[in-house]
Amino acid sequence: MIFVTGGAGFIGANFVLDWLAENDESIVNIDKLTYAGNLESLSSLQGDNRHIFVQGDIGDASLISELLEKHQPRAVINFAAESHVDRSIHGPEAFIQTNVVGTFHLLEAIRAYWNKLDGNSKQNFRLLHVSTDEVYGSLAKDEPAFTETHQYEPNSPYSASKAASDHLVHSYHHTYGLPVLTTNCSNNYGPYHFPEKLIPLIIVNALAGKSLPVYGDGQQIRDWLYVKDHCSAIRRVLAAGTSGETYNVGGWNEKPNLEIVHTVCSLLDELRPRADKQGYAEPISFVTDRLGHDRRYAIDARKIERELDWKPVETFDTGIRKTVQWYLDNQDWVANVQSGAYRDWVEKNYQERS
Ligand code: NAD
Ligand code: TYD
Repeated sequence: MIFVTGGAGFIGANFVLDWLAENDESIVNIDKLTYAGNLESLSSLQGDNRHIFVQGDIGDASLISELLEKHQPRAVINFAAESHVDRSIHGPEAFIQTNVVGTFHLLEAIRAYWNKLDGNSKQNFRLLHVSTDEVYGSLAKDEPAFTETHQYEPNSPYSASKAASDHLVHSYHHTYGLPVLTTNCSNNYGPYHFPEKLIPLIIVNALAGKSLPVYGDGQQIRDWLYVKDHCSAIRRVLAAGTSGETYNVGGWNEKPNLEIVHTVCSLLDELRPRADKQGYAEPISFVTDRLGHDRRYAIDARKIERELDWKPVETFDTGIRKTVQWYLDNQDWVANVQSGAYRDWVEKNYQERS
């Protein structure tokens, strides 16, 4: 069996669902259930004894040790993190606690467990740490995309905390020989994405007739990857990646934010035309920029393609269409995540942006 941390979040939940759809190997899913954790995303697994959910913190080394001893996993995939840049600007401490201190305690528990393994179990064990392209910093328009050897130059408290966790993971490989794999992925989108991030926020606001906030001039570029392609990349790296190596994962889909917003609105115009015949793009509003906003991210994903024969299946056109349709078909899921805490966040983040 394998362990997944943060498996009630956006990417983790997609990973757990896809993993159990693809094979019968059980998962222990350890998630703290912060505001971003949502067991409803996993409701289709109710009664499925291949999925064992434990509410817990990756920073709780004694809980993690106990679970490792009990279940003897062959691998741990670490998705657990605080993941939202805007929240890291408003309150960086939780990012240091989970992404840095939490990852450190997780590593200590795993190192102790791995040291006691022997033979093939020890050799074949893997920790796969899921990271982000944001650790590499911001690119100018004409600079080449990030390769795995690009220098680390994180600019936000979020990306700095992820960079720190990547360095810790690498150091446990270099110093103790722990068999680790790291993936640095570009922006994901798809089902079960919490509507504080750009794409689901625009879908949800547009459907509610609310303003569509575009930070600054909307010309910041992100490289978008459909979440299920990210999940297949992680499965591939786990199966065939070389211990100690990093693999960049991306969709070759660089788009400015404003174009993303217009694409989402056009799809909504087509799939669910507004009763008043207005276009969904009508309430786009340019608001005060994010502090320290990175201008461009782009992933060079040639290593994972060359060495592990992985490529994304979805183009941006097919992936974004599936995503918009998913949100139209899952209005209950959307309504349930828009709790009081969500509304508080929206007020805090947007009221100060003119
Ligand atoms: P998310 O915020 O949607 O989910 C994070 C999950 O981790 C939540 O379920 C939360 O409850 C859980 N969690 C938080 N703190 C925890 C702790 N201390 N112990 C245990 N569980 C905890 O994030 P996501 O978008 O699914 O991202 C997953 C991982 O992928 C993160 O490590 C993130 O840095 C990385 N990543 C995300 C993207 C993206 O576009 N979303 C891109 C590249 C990399
Ligand atoms: P986000 O989804 O928060 O991901 P990240 O910051 O990790 O890339 O934001 C994606 C881009 O969209 C980023 O450049 C910030 C921008 N953005 C807006 O323009 N408006 C918004 O309301 C949000 C949440 C993001």
